Amino acid sequence: TETGSLSIVVLGASGDLAKKKTFPALFNLYRQGFLHPDEVCILGYARTKISDDELRNRIRGYLPHGKGASNDQAEDVSKFLQLIKYVSGSYDSEEGFHSLDKEISAHELSKHTAEGSSRRLFYFALPPSVYPSVCKMIKNCCMNKSDCGGWTRIVVEKPFGKDLESAEQLSTQIGELFDEPQIYRIDHYLGKELVQNLLVLRFANRFFLPLWNRDNIDNVQIVFREDFGTDGRGGYFDQYGIIRDIIQNHLLQVLCLVAMEKPVSLKPEHIRDEKVKVLQSVIPLKDEEVVLGQYDGYTEDPTVPDNSNTPTFATMVLRIHNERWEGVPFILKAGKALNSRKAEIRVQFKDVPGQKQGRNEFVIRLQPSEAMYMKLTVKQPGLEMSTIQSELDLSYGQRYQGFPIPEAYERLILDTIRGDQQHFVRRDELKAAWEIFTPLLHRIDRGEVKSVSYKPGSRGPVEADQLLERAGYVQTHGYIWIPPTL
Ligand code: BG6
Repeated sequence: TETGSLSIVVLGASGDLAKKKTFPALFNLYRQGFLHPDEVCILGYARTKISDDELRNRIRGYLPHGKGASNDQAEDVSKFLQLIKYVSGSYDSEEGFHSLDKEISAHELSKHTAEGSSRRLFYFALPPSVYPSVCKMIKNCCMNKSDCGGWTRIVVEKPFGKDLESAEQLSTQIGELFDEPQIYRIDHYLGKELVQNLLVLRFANRFFLPLWNRDNIDNVQIVFREDFGTDGRGGYFDQYGIIRDIIQNHLLQVLCLVAMEKPVSLKPEHIRDEKVKVLQSVIPLKDEEVVLGQYDGYTEDPTVPDNSNTPTFATMVLRIHNERWEGVPFILKAGKALNSRKAEIRVQFKDVPGQKQGRNEFVIRLQPSEAMYMKLTVKQPGLEMSTIQSELDLSYGQRYQGFPIPEAYERLILDTIRGDQQHFVRRDELKAAWEIFTPLLHRIDRGEVKSVSYKPGSRGPVEADQLLERAGYVQTHGYIWIPPTL
């Protein structure tokens, strides 16, 4: 492991993402000993002119504090906040970034050891419109001092553009300033425990190896549901819609891990090579295999235009044209303001000849109640010979008591410090992802494909269930999985 000074700069420090995700993740890393006070300095940067203490107070509210927190936690919070300093400045002038560089250099000097290094991590909790100028400022003013060794890395988050062209333009602008190994494109779904488990599960178990293909699997669903609407972020959301917000990134990344071939090794480049191949094998979407929805009341948000056609729900079938998956529908479904909150992968196997009771399914529940379970047919216990649907259940809360599941951001930020790009999106991957959806998105933007309405708190449009059925999914009526209670 590397040692020496580490400066973590959170750009957009007073914004929502920074407060809700970035700083709490940094705090958790600190608490677990991954950010050592002898090495680390955290610098918040934003336009607002506030003092160090004002920033600390704003952050404090998002960390464990007050009544529920133990004394230890409260002490950790204070110590952590002392690592944070604030610099204000604009995103497009060198002045602010020179001050930032001064602070970083002062920190590096104070920590300088014989093997001391200049490690600089820039976390962009910023709107993408300022990415190019911020990259330029960092490049001009804030790169690591090479005589001290170390590195400079940037961490960026979606939306990376709105379609293929704008995304490529953004990639080119950033690519002129930073090399791919310096760029960490976060997709926080890749940091979720059960998503990280996918490759191990698939390639380290004899149960799955011979079955994971078109001969045995009938259809795959990757589902994201939320039981709240676009509350408070309608303005942002309306520009993007559910496909750009969830499907083109989060669900598609999960699809890659479900569908990809075994990588040559677990090296990040080998894994990402295989993901790109899957994406490039997806054939163009067909209109009749897409259902879009918008929940009633969505346009009542004052920041949303009355005539908005932006989907808050979508179900679509992706088809992967390769030897393993030819003919197997991958159904991606995401919706806001539905009747429940959950994310899961549901792999449905083909019928057993002569058996009508229910299909085997392998389900990975990403959240909440993280679990994986296999739905299977067994004999009903008792004197009679009848069959029922049951499951083999690996529920994390029960099986791994005392092992809290880390937050996605926590793990991913640790990867950026360690220099592991395995769980980050490579440029060609991003491009291939946009290629899949851009034609459809353009048609939606032009109003050629319309969203149907659905009731908030419902399952979404009935048309989506009909599409699911047409794609071959067979629901087992009367069976539901109930997560075990502790
Ligand atoms: C974000 C989307 O990327 O993911 C949000 O922009 C969504 O719209 C969120 O609510 C969901 O993340 P999670 O981790 O709560 O499933």
